[in-house]
Amino acid sequence: MSEDWTELYRPSGLNEVVGNPKAVQDLTNWAQSWEEGKPAKKAAVLIGTPGTGKTSAALALAADFHWDVVEMNASDQRNADAIKAIALRGAMGETFSDTGEYLSSKDGKLKLIVLDEADNISGREDRGGVPAIAELVRSTKQPVILIVNDWYALSKKSSVLKNGTLQVKFSKIKTPTVRSVLRRIAADQGVKVSDGALEVLAENSNGDLRSAIRDLQALSAGRTELDEDGVGAMGFREIEQTMYSVMDDIFKRKDPGAARAALREVDETPDTKLLWIEENLPHAYRDHLDLYRGMKAVSRADDFLSRVHRRQHYRFWAYSGDLLGFGVCAAKRKEIHGYIRYQFPMYLMRMSRSKGNRALQGEISAKLGALTHMSARTARQDVLPSFKLLFQRDERFRLAMVKDMELEEEEVAFLLNDKVDSPAVKRVVAEARKMTDGHEAPPKKESESRSGPASEPPKPAPNQARLFSF
Ligand SMILES: Nc1ncnc2c1ncn2[C@@H]1O[C@H](COP(=O)(O)OP(=O)(O)OP(=O)(O)O)[C@@H](O)[C@H]1O
Ligand SMILES: [Mg+2]
Repeated sequence: MSEDWTELYRPSGLNEVVGNPKAVQDLTNWAQSWEEGKPAKKAAVLIGTPGTGKTSAALALAADFHWDVVEMNASDQRNADAIKAIALRGAMGETFSDTGEYLSSKDGKLKLIVLDEADNISGREDRGGVPAIAELVRSTKQPVILIVNDWYALSKKSSVLKNGTLQVKFSKIKTPTVRSVLRRIAADQGVKVSDGALEVLAENSNGDLRSAIRDLQALSAGRTELDEDGVGAMGFREIEQTMYSVMDDIFKRKDPGAARAALREVDETPDTKLLWIEENLPHAYRDHLDLYRGMKAVSRADDFLSRVHRRQHYRFWAYSGDLLGFGVCAAKRKEIHGYIRYQFPMYLMRMSRSKGNRALQGEISAKLGALTHMSARTARQDVLPSFKLLFQRDERFRLAMVKDMELEEEEVAFLLNDKVDSPAVKRVVAEARKMTDGHEAPPKKESESRSGPASEPPKPAPNQARLFSF
């Protein structure tokens, strides 16, 4: 289970690369022309959105043709020197592995130079990144593959790159294809996945096979069966999608007002928004001063959030939102180009338990909505944050709510920011159960009058049900 399925099921040869048959054929022909010693273009560029098999195809090609591989990630290079050095070695026909190991070119065995995220160097023309890649393409004696998400940005900076390369497009993987890959993996892992669940996973992936496989793995954790409910409950790809597009509004666009408005539209708690921006800001703002100013805005936002928590100054939510949207967007002086690989916040990842916080939030909001006669969505957006605070602070309120909403241990743990098996969670659930089991309606009234203001807000509908069942 600990193994990453996207790596486990990475294609080992081109025949395992699904979708994009023309791209695979073009690559095979190109490799063949190298084998015959007369390539028309010395470099190929693999262009396409994430998770469509570009890196996999490059590695599979090398495996099929028994070529060695020198893999470099352009975004890791602090300057162009490393690429220049590789260009030089490539030009001499000799290469080193990325760990510095010497690879001889005996028997005319070719070495494939793979430069991943080549477009991520495009923002640093000042350091000669693009010319270094162009030089590599011009002078290489070994096959070169560049991998890019945003070819336009890179190609317009260099005619050598534009004209001297074979361009191979990778399109999004079609839904039925994603579905059949997922079905195969599930079968191999011994997880029974319903057709409906496969459909939802495939649809949600939006042509990104990597994310589809990841979702399948996350959702299958600890299960042998997975149906639509199991998939619908998670829905984290959904937030990932919305936070994802807002990220571009904040980091790339130059309109702070629009960034603030876009962030406000996202249906997430201010804390979650902050985590997303904090996690991804360093990937977006590479200029040190921009990053410094951006982080300063984030930390001010965090200040306001903690004042909300400490003193219930809810007005400060708006300030934190302004700082995160407007403030971070306005913090940059440099333009931000190219594709940024946004990440799901580590913190949320660590915090998410078997069911996933998102699912728990949804379930609690639904119960809260039923109790207070509002939609689950409104409950989550407007009530849940303050409900959570009250729940943490006021013990009588907590007990009353666990009882009336019939909250489960996982939900209580979520509300208390605590582990499911912690003593605090166990205790409150046990006490609430005692209250429910021991005596039904009458003692409940008693506890209500005793608890005073704490249990005032909810005039729970479940009461009625209990009265009837009396
Ligand atoms: N066309 C494909 N055929 C088979 N598996 C694929 C394909 N595309 C993606 N995958 C699966 O997704 C994983 C990631 O794919 P890969 O690294 O090739 O994507 P990529 O196009 O390079 O994405 P990125 O642009 O994010 O680097 C693979 O390890 C494999 O499990
Ligand atoms: Mg890749």
